[in-house]
Amino acid sequence: MIKLTLKRLMVTNALLLASGLATAQAADNDQDALIKQGEYLARLGDCMACHTTAGRPAYAGGLAIKSDLGTIYSTNITPDKQYGIGNYTEQQFADAVRKGVRPDGSYLYPAMPYPDYAAISNTDIHALYTYFMHGVTASNSQPPATDMRFPFSQRWGMRFWNLVFTSDKPFQPIGGASAQVNRGAYIAESLGHCGSCHTPRGFAMNEKALHSNDRDFLAGGDLNGWDVPSLRGIARWSPQEIVDYLQTGRNDKAGVAGEMTSVVENSTSHMTDADLQAIAAYLKFLGGNPPLQAYDQQKNQATTDTLTAAVNLTEGQTLYLNNCDACHFANGLGAPGAFPQLDQASVVNAQSPDGLIHIILQGAQLPSTPKAPSMLKMPAFAHRLSDDQVAKLATFVRQGWSNNAPAVTADQVQKVRATLTQH
Ligand code: HEC
Ligand code: HEC
Ligand code: HEC
Repeated sequence: MIKLTLKRLMVTNALLLASGLATAQAADNDQDALIKQGEYLARLGDCMACHTTAGRPAYAGGLAIKSDLGTIYSTNITPDKQYGIGNYTEQQFADAVRKGVRPDGSYLYPAMPYPDYAAISNTDIHALYTYFMHGVTASNSQPPATDMRFPFSQRWGMRFWNLVFTSDKPFQPIGGASAQVNRGAYIAESLGHCGSCHTPRGFAMNEKALHSNDRDFLAGGDLNGWDVPSLRGIARWSPQEIVDYLQTGRNDKAGVAGEMTSVVENSTSHMTDADLQAIAAYLKFLGGNPPLQAYDQQKNQATTDTLTAAVNLTEGQTLYLNNCDACHFANGLGAPGAFPQLDQASVVNAQSPDGLIHIILQGAQLPSTPKAPSMLKMPAFAHRLSDDQVAKLATFVRQGWSNNAPAVTADQVQKVRATLTQH
């Protein structure tokens, strides 16, 4: 009897022990899964773009973000208890990321895109927090101190900016839209912070809209004079072309340049196919904008014929044949996947020619991504072409084929060239 009970006890104990181990194991697995999920969300949020700088450990900060008001340095967000955020509770982490408020109550500058991150869900905050506390290596690297001019050096002033320009509403699904479209909307509005570059800014540098239901949302912005295209609909691309562009920095028609290059490299090229398809479905759902320039076969043919005949050319046309034709071809349609189309390209037809001038002067390089590792490069022409030549060439490119954008002056080229030599 006693023996039996003892045996029973032992069996129960062994069972208990086993189930205890299993629970611990399950907890470990949960934690690992959460860290993995958080790491993926950090990719969606492109935290790396600003918090990791060459020569410093991952997430140790130190990126200088210059503005007219002074220089802001991104901070160390590794779990180091002294120089990083190792002492932050999950709530404090959530408040910094979603509201721009530090544990001591001071306010972050919106160089950290918290107006967009405000829409991150609690579940995603939890995974991000777990990743930053347990999946990132602590570093005691100390970034330089932020140096803003008075009155912008007064962080308390941000409190009023926040009251007026941010919202602490959680993500609001678009009524009547599919789950896929809403997944895309969630990424674009929150972690993806697409609006921080693609939404026009108001008088106080605030994004004019933070939600999909507002027509200004993703309607096109400006980065130091470089027109950032509208994402509403992208009528001239199919959903698959949008996916290809975000995944590899290129599609049959275009190649990524400028600030979007690092977004593709560090963030969108790491997204799952399902998330990229959700973004594409969402941008199509937004619709709204007709193509900048409808592709016009006849008009394209007229320019192509002129260039091919090569008689009575304007100076702009001659410059094109001598410098660009080898890769972008007489029909301006380039070679799918290698040399982008100049006919219809957003950067060519943008209201401001600065992006196009920038690319001609400095060249451009496609990023290397997991699905398209080749880093195709366009050479720089700054030393080969004068301001006047670039102006004439750019004017031809903006008005040839089916393009129809305003002419470019040598003055405009000179201004962009000046910003390049400053660095
Ligand atoms: C566009 C640049 C940018 C991106 C993207 C960005 N940050 Fe930041 N972040 C900053 C800057 C700049 C600061 C410091 C602002 C200041 O000093 O006022 C900051 C501050 C922070 C802080 C406050 C730390 C402290 O010093 O108290 C946290 C936490 C943080 N970021 C987390 C994140 C996370 C998580 C992500 C990704 C989901 C992210 N950041 C993405 C620029 C960025
Ligand atoms: C740091 C600023 C920045 C952020 C953040 C950003 N973009 Fe961009 N994006 C740009 C710029 C600049 C261009 C123009 C690139 C060019 O001219 O080659 C661009 C171009 C694009 C294009 C090509 C559009 C066209 O008509 O050629 C797509 C699609 C795009 N972005 C999607 C996104 C999505 C989706 C997000 C959010 C997940 C995002 N971008 C976040 C700056 C940004
Ligand atoms: C040796 C080949 C080569 C030559 C010559 C060349 N390009 Fe490019 N070009 C490229 C490649 C490759 C890209 C894609 C790089 C990228 O977008 O980052 C590109 C991209 C561009 C883009 C951006 C297109 C987009 O979809 O956003 C423009 C505009 C452009 N080139 C204009 C020109 C002009 C104008 C000339 C003549 C001055 C020229 N290119 C000469 C190879 C070339």
